[in-house]
Amino acid sequence: MKQLKRPRRLRNSKAIRELCAENNLNLSDFIYPMFCHFDEGVKEEISSMPGQFRQGREYLIKDLKNLVKSGLKAICLFPLVEEKLKDSMGSYSYSESNYYLDLIKEIKNLYPELIIMTDVALDPYSSDGHDGIVDKKTGKILNDESLLVLEKMSIAQARAGADIIGPSDMMDGRIRVIREALEREKFIDTMIMSYSAKYASSYYGPFREALNSAPKSGDKKTYQMDPRNLKVALKEAKLDVAEGADILMVKPGQPYLDVVSLLARNLTQPISVYQVSGEYAMIKAASEKGWIDERSVVLESAISFKRAGASMVLSYFTRDILNYLKP
Ligand code: PBG
Repeated sequence: MKQLKRPRRLRNSKAIRELCAENNLNLSDFIYPMFCHFDEGVKEEISSMPGQFRQGREYLIKDLKNLVKSGLKAICLFPLVEEKLKDSMGSYSYSESNYYLDLIKEIKNLYPELIIMTDVALDPYSSDGHDGIVDKKTGKILNDESLLVLEKMSIAQARAGADIIGPSDMMDGRIRVIREALEREKFIDTMIMSYSAKYASSYYGPFREALNSAPKSGDKKTYQMDPRNLKVALKEAKLDVAEGADILMVKPGQPYLDVVSLLARNLTQPISVYQVSGEYAMIKAASEKGWIDERSVVLESAISFKRAGASMVLSYFTRDILNYLKP
Protein backbone atom coordinates (compact mmCIF):
# COMPACT_ATOMS: atom_id res chain seq x y z
CA MET A 1 0.00 0.00 0.00
CA LYS A 2 1.31 3.44 -0.94
CA GLN A 3 1.40 5.87 2.01
CA LEU A 4 0.15 9.29 0.95
CA LYS A 5 -1.27 10.60 4.21
CA ARG A 6 1.28 10.77 6.99
CA PRO A 7 0.01 12.71 10.03
CA ARG A 8 3.32 11.99 11.74
CA ARG A 9 5.01 14.56 9.46
CA LEU A 10 3.52 17.23 11.70
CA ARG A 11 4.89 15.58 14.84
CA ASN A 12 8.43 14.88 13.74
CA SER A 13 10.20 17.73 15.54
CA LYS A 14 9.55 19.99 18.46
CA ALA A 15 9.58 23.00 16.13
CA ILE A 16 6.82 21.69 13.88
CA ARG A 17 4.80 20.50 16.88
CA GLU A 18 4.97 24.00 18.31
CA LEU A 19 3.85 25.54 15.01
CA CYS A 20 0.87 23.22 14.84
CA ALA A 21 -0.24 23.50 18.46
CA GLU A 22 -3.89 24.57 18.69
CA ASN A 23 -3.65 25.51 22.36
CA ASN A 24 -1.00 26.77 24.73
CA LEU A 25 -0.79 27.59 28.41
CA ASN A 26 -0.06 31.14 29.53
CA LEU A 27 0.55 32.41 33.04
CA SER A 28 -2.35 34.75 32.51
CA ASP A 29 -4.83 31.87 32.06
CA PHE A 30 -4.78 30.96 35.75
CA ILE A 31 -6.68 32.03 38.83
CA TYR A 32 -5.23 30.80 42.11
CA PRO A 33 -7.81 29.83 44.78
CA MET A 34 -6.37 30.63 48.21
CA PHE A 35 -7.66 30.04 51.75
CA CYS A 36 -7.34 32.72 54.39
CA HIS A 37 -7.31 32.23 58.15
CA PHE A 38 -8.95 34.62 60.62
CA ASP A 39 -5.89 34.51 62.91
CA GLU A 40 -3.35 36.73 61.22
CA GLY A 41 -0.28 34.90 62.53
CA VAL A 42 -1.34 31.40 61.47
CA LYS A 43 -0.28 29.25 58.55
CA GLU A 44 -1.67 25.70 58.47
CA GLU A 45 -1.31 23.09 55.77
CA ILE A 46 -4.58 21.49 54.65
CA SER A 47 -4.03 17.80 55.23
CA SER A 48 -5.94 16.55 52.18
CA MET A 49 -4.36 19.25 49.98
CA PRO A 50 -0.60 19.03 50.51
CA GLY A 51 1.09 22.27 49.46
CA GLN A 52 -2.06 24.37 50.11
CA PHE A 53 -2.50 26.39 53.29
CA ARG A 54 -4.94 28.36 55.37
CA GLN A 55 -3.00 31.54 55.90
CA GLY A 56 -3.55 34.47 58.19
CA ARG A 57 -3.02 38.02 56.98
CA GLU A 58 0.74 38.18 57.61
CA TYR A 59 1.53 34.99 55.73
CA LEU A 60 -0.93 35.59 52.94
CA ILE A 61 0.47 39.03 52.16
CA LYS A 62 4.04 37.69 52.21
CA ASP A 63 3.05 34.80 49.96
CA LEU A 64 1.28 37.08 47.50
CA LYS A 65 4.34 39.26 47.18
CA ASN A 66 6.32 36.34 45.77
CA LEU A 67 3.46 35.02 43.67
CA VAL A 68 2.85 38.39 42.04
CA LYS A 69 6.58 38.65 41.36
CA SER A 70 6.39 35.27 39.61
CA GLY A 71 3.60 36.52 37.37
CA LEU A 72 0.38 35.67 39.21
CA LYS A 73 -2.49 37.69 37.70
CA ALA A 74 -5.57 36.60 39.61
CA ILE A 75 -6.65 35.03 42.88
CA CYS A 76 -9.90 33.68 44.29
CA LEU A 77 -10.10 34.02 48.07
CA PHE A 78 -12.00 31.78 50.48
CA PRO A 79 -12.36 32.57 54.19
CA LEU A 80 -12.09 30.23 57.16
CA VAL A 81 -14.61 31.59 59.65
CA GLU A 82 -14.52 31.08 63.43
CA GLU A 83 -17.23 28.65 64.53
CA LYS A 84 -18.59 31.10 67.09
CA LEU A 85 -19.24 33.69 64.35
CA LYS A 86 -21.34 31.32 62.25
CA ASP A 87 -25.12 31.53 62.38
CA SER A 88 -28.09 30.21 60.44
CA MET A 89 -28.32 33.42 58.36
CA GLY A 90 -24.62 33.70 57.49
CA SER A 91 -24.70 37.26 58.77
CA TYR A 92 -20.93 37.51 59.34
CA SER A 93 -20.56 37.44 55.54
CA TYR A 94 -21.43 41.13 55.29
CA SER A 95 -20.57 42.26 58.81
CA GLU A 96 -18.52 45.45 59.28
CA SER A 97 -16.01 43.44 61.27
CA ASN A 98 -15.52 40.69 58.68
CA TYR A 99 -11.76 40.04 58.46
CA TYR A 100 -12.10 38.65 54.91
CA LEU A 101 -13.45 41.98 53.64
CA ASP A 102 -10.59 43.84 55.35
CA LEU A 103 -8.12 41.49 53.73
CA ILE A 104 -9.57 42.11 50.28
CA LYS A 105 -9.23 45.84 50.87
CA GLU A 106 -5.63 45.51 51.94
CA ILE A 107 -4.63 43.25 49.05
CA LYS A 108 -6.33 45.57 46.55
CA ASN A 109 -4.34 48.50 47.94
CA LEU A 110 -1.06 46.61 47.80
CA TYR A 111 -1.63 45.05 44.37
CA PRO A 112 -4.10 47.13 42.39
CA GLU A 113 -3.32 45.15 39.22
CA LEU A 114 -4.01 41.76 40.77
CA ILE A 115 -7.53 40.55 39.99
CA ILE A 116 -9.36 39.55 43.16
CA MET A 117 -12.28 37.17 42.89
CA THR A 118 -14.49 36.41 45.87
CA ASP A 119 -16.87 33.62 46.80
CA VAL A 120 -20.56 34.29 47.30
CA ALA A 121 -22.40 31.53 49.19
CA LEU A 122 -23.45 31.06 52.79
CA ASP A 123 -21.54 27.88 53.57
CA PRO A 124 -18.33 29.29 55.13
CA TYR A 125 -20.50 31.50 57.38
CA SER A 126 -23.42 29.19 58.03
CA SER A 127 -23.88 27.13 61.21
CA ASP A 128 -25.74 24.66 58.97
CA GLY A 129 -22.95 24.38 56.41
CA HIS A 130 -25.31 24.98 53.49
CA ASP A 131 -24.99 27.54 50.69
CA GLY A 132 -28.43 28.96 51.46
CA ILE A 133 -30.63 29.46 54.50
CA VAL A 134 -32.06 26.24 55.93
CA ASP A 135 -35.68 26.13 57.04
CA LYS A 136 -35.59 24.94 60.66
CA LYS A 137 -38.79 22.89 60.41
CA THR A 138 -38.46 21.21 57.04
CA GLY A 139 -34.70 21.25 56.48
CA LYS A 140 -35.33 22.74 53.04
CA ILE A 141 -32.99 25.32 51.53
CA LEU A 142 -34.92 28.58 51.16
CA ASN A 143 -34.19 30.08 47.78
CA ASP A 144 -35.58 33.61 47.82
CA GLU A 145 -34.71 34.31 51.46
CA SER A 146 -31.11 33.32 50.68
CA LEU A 147 -30.95 35.84 47.84
CA LEU A 148 -31.20 38.70 50.34
CA VAL A 149 -28.05 37.51 52.10
CA LEU A 150 -26.21 36.85 48.84
CA GLU A 151 -27.01 40.38 47.73
CA LYS A 152 -25.63 41.95 50.91
CA MET A 153 -22.55 39.76 50.76
CA SER A 154 -21.87 40.73 47.13
CA ILE A 155 -22.17 44.44 47.79
CA ALA A 156 -19.89 44.19 50.83
CA GLN A 157 -17.30 42.40 48.70
CA ALA A 158 -17.57 44.89 45.84
CA ARG A 159 -17.19 47.72 48.33
CA ALA A 160 -14.05 46.06 49.73
CA GLY A 161 -12.56 46.15 46.23
CA ALA A 162 -13.30 42.75 44.69
CA ASP A 163 -12.96 42.77 40.90
CA ILE A 164 -14.98 39.63 40.29
CA ILE A 165 -17.91 38.43 42.36
CA GLY A 166 -18.20 34.64 42.24
CA PRO A 167 -21.62 33.32 43.25
CA SER A 168 -21.10 29.59 43.97
CA ASP A 169 -24.40 29.02 45.77
CA MET A 170 -26.67 27.81 42.91
CA MET A 171 -29.80 29.57 44.17
CA ASP A 172 -32.23 30.46 41.37
CA GLY A 173 -32.21 34.10 40.30
CA ARG A 174 -29.07 35.10 42.20
CA ILE A 175 -27.26 36.64 39.26
CA ARG A 176 -30.11 39.05 38.58
CA VAL A 177 -30.30 40.11 42.22
CA ILE A 178 -26.56 40.64 42.45
CA ARG A 179 -26.29 42.45 39.10
CA GLU A 180 -29.15 44.79 39.96
CA ALA A 181 -27.63 45.55 43.34
CA LEU A 182 -24.20 46.23 41.81
CA GLU A 183 -25.74 48.64 39.29
CA ARG A 184 -27.81 50.32 41.97
CA GLU A 185 -24.73 50.83 44.15
CA LYS A 186 -22.73 52.09 41.13
CA PHE A 187 -20.32 49.18 40.95
CA ILE A 188 -20.79 49.15 37.22
CA ASP A 189 -17.37 47.65 36.46
CA THR A 190 -17.52 44.84 39.01
CA MET A 191 -17.70 41.56 37.13
CA ILE A 192 -19.75 38.50 37.94
CA MET A 193 -18.28 35.08 37.29
CA SER A 194 -21.21 32.80 37.81
CA TYR A 195 -20.69 29.23 38.92
CA SER A 196 -23.25 28.37 36.24
CA ALA A 197 -22.74 24.66 35.91
CA LYS A 198 -21.89 23.57 39.41
CA TYR A 199 -22.50 19.90 39.98
CA ALA A 200 -23.31 18.14 43.26
CA SER A 201 -19.89 16.54 43.29
CA SER A 202 -17.94 14.34 45.65
CA TYR A 203 -14.77 16.06 44.47
CA TYR A 204 -15.34 18.98 46.90
CA GLY A 205 -14.41 16.96 50.00
CA PRO A 206 -10.96 18.45 50.70
CA PHE A 207 -12.30 22.01 50.24
CA ARG A 208 -14.96 21.42 52.88
CA GLU A 209 -12.25 20.11 55.20
CA ALA A 210 -10.17 23.23 54.51
CA LEU A 211 -12.99 25.58 55.54
CA ASN A 212 -14.75 23.25 57.95
CA SER A 213 -17.85 23.98 55.87
CA ALA A 214 -19.45 20.58 55.20
CA PRO A 215 -23.27 20.47 55.54
CA LYS A 216 -24.30 19.55 59.09
CA SER A 217 -27.17 17.54 57.66
CA GLY A 218 -28.36 16.45 54.24
CA ASP A 219 -26.49 17.13 51.01
CA LYS A 220 -26.44 19.84 48.33
CA LYS A 221 -28.41 17.93 45.70
CA THR A 222 -31.46 20.22 45.78
CA TYR A 223 -29.37 23.13 44.50
CA GLN A 224 -26.20 21.79 42.89
CA MET A 225 -26.69 19.93 39.60
CA ASP A 226 -27.14 16.23 38.99
CA PRO A 227 -23.93 14.73 37.55
CA ARG A 228 -26.01 12.64 35.15
CA ASN A 229 -27.23 15.69 33.26
CA LEU A 230 -25.70 17.77 30.49
CA LYS A 231 -28.53 19.86 29.00
CA VAL A 232 -29.27 21.53 32.32
CA ALA A 233 -25.79 23.10 32.17
CA LEU A 234 -26.77 25.02 29.07
CA LYS A 235 -30.08 26.01 30.66
CA GLU A 236 -28.37 27.38 33.78
CA ALA A 237 -25.69 29.14 31.75
CA LYS A 238 -28.24 30.83 29.46
CA LEU A 239 -30.22 32.01 32.47
CA ASP A 240 -27.05 33.45 34.00
CA VAL A 241 -26.25 35.28 30.78
CA ALA A 242 -29.76 36.72 30.65
CA GLU A 243 -29.48 37.78 34.28
CA GLY A 244 -26.19 39.60 33.72
CA ALA A 245 -23.23 37.25 34.25
CA ASP A 246 -19.97 38.25 32.53
CA ILE A 247 -18.11 34.94 32.76
CA LEU A 248 -19.53 31.43 33.16
CA MET A 249 -17.88 28.72 35.17
CA VAL A 250 -18.02 24.93 35.00
CA LYS A 251 -17.15 22.96 38.11
CA PRO A 252 -15.59 20.43 38.73
CA GLY A 253 -13.14 20.40 35.84
CA GLN A 254 -11.72 17.20 34.39
CA PRO A 255 -14.77 14.97 34.91
CA TYR A 256 -16.90 17.66 33.22
CA LEU A 257 -14.95 18.60 30.08
CA ASP A 258 -18.02 17.80 27.98
CA VAL A 259 -19.82 20.58 29.84
CA VAL A 260 -16.98 23.04 29.20
CA SER A 261 -17.10 22.14 25.54
CA LEU A 262 -20.88 22.49 25.32
CA LEU A 263 -20.89 25.97 26.87
CA ALA A 264 -17.86 27.16 24.92
CA ARG A 265 -19.47 26.15 21.63
CA ASN A 266 -22.91 27.54 22.33
CA LEU A 267 -22.26 30.82 24.12
CA THR A 268 -20.16 33.87 23.43
CA GLN A 269 -19.18 34.63 27.04
CA PRO A 270 -15.74 33.55 28.27
CA ILE A 271 -15.85 30.15 29.95
CA SER A 272 -13.87 29.32 33.05
CA VAL A 273 -13.35 25.97 34.68
CA TYR A 274 -12.53 25.03 38.27
CA GLN A 275 -10.10 22.17 38.83
CA VAL A 276 -11.44 21.47 42.31
CA SER A 277 -9.91 20.27 45.56
CA GLY A 278 -10.57 16.57 44.96
CA GLU A 279 -8.90 16.72 41.55
CA TYR A 280 -5.90 18.37 43.18
CA ALA A 281 -5.81 15.78 45.97
CA MET A 282 -5.91 12.86 43.53
CA ILE A 283 -3.01 14.11 41.43
CA LYS A 284 -1.02 14.95 44.57
CA ALA A 285 -1.63 11.55 46.16
CA ALA A 286 -0.69 9.58 43.06
CA SER A 287 2.45 11.61 42.52
CA GLU A 288 3.49 11.29 46.18
CA LYS A 289 3.27 7.55 45.68
CA GLY A 290 5.47 7.88 42.63
CA TRP A 291 2.73 6.51 40.39
CA ILE A 292 2.52 9.48 38.04
CA ASP A 293 4.83 12.33 37.10
CA GLU A 294 3.25 15.33 38.80
CA ARG A 295 4.56 18.07 36.56
CA SER A 296 3.53 16.47 33.29
CA VAL A 297 0.12 15.36 34.58
CA VAL A 298 -0.59 18.85 35.93
CA LEU A 299 0.31 20.46 32.61
CA GLU A 300 -1.70 17.87 30.67
CA SER A 301 -4.76 18.43 32.87
CA ALA A 302 -4.41 22.18 32.35
CA ILE A 303 -4.18 21.96 28.58
CA SER A 304 -7.24 19.69 28.51
CA PHE A 305 -9.28 22.61 29.86
CA LYS A 306 -8.03 24.93 27.13
CA ARG A 307 -8.68 22.30 24.46
CA ALA A 308 -12.24 21.86 25.71
CA GLY A 309 -12.76 25.60 25.22
CA ALA A 310 -12.08 27.29 28.56
CA SER A 311 -10.45 30.72 28.51
CA MET A 312 -9.32 30.52 32.12
CA VAL A 313 -8.70 27.95 34.81
CA LEU A 314 -9.06 28.08 38.57
CA SER A 315 -6.48 25.66 39.90
CA TYR A 316 -4.66 24.94 43.14
CA PHE A 317 -1.72 24.02 40.91
CA THR A 318 -1.39 27.66 39.79
CA ARG A 319 1.56 28.11 42.16
CA ASP A 320 3.40 25.22 40.47
CA ILE A 321 2.33 26.21 36.98
CA LEU A 322 3.86 29.66 37.49
CA ASN A 323 7.16 27.84 38.01
CA TYR A 324 6.69 25.38 35.18
CA LEU A 325 5.95 28.15 32.68
CA LYS A 326 8.82 30.36 33.77
CA PRO A 327 10.57 31.48 30.59
C1 PBG B 1 -18.83 26.95 48.36
C2 PBG B 1 -17.82 26.38 47.45
C3 PBG B 1 -17.41 25.03 47.35
C4 PBG B 1 -16.33 25.03 46.47
C5 PBG B 1 -16.14 26.33 46.02
N1 PBG B 1 -17.09 27.15 46.62
C6 PBG B 1 -17.84 23.82 48.07
C7 PBG B 1 -19.22 23.35 47.97
O1 PBG B 1 -20.01 23.80 47.14
O2 PBG B 1 -19.56 22.49 48.78
C8 PBG B 1 -15.53 23.81 46.11
C9 PBG B 1 -14.15 24.07 45.60
C10 PBG B 1 -13.22 22.91 45.65
O3 PBG B 1 -13.59 21.76 45.93
O4 PBG B 1 -12.04 23.13 45.38
N2 PBG B 1 -20.10 27.14 47.88
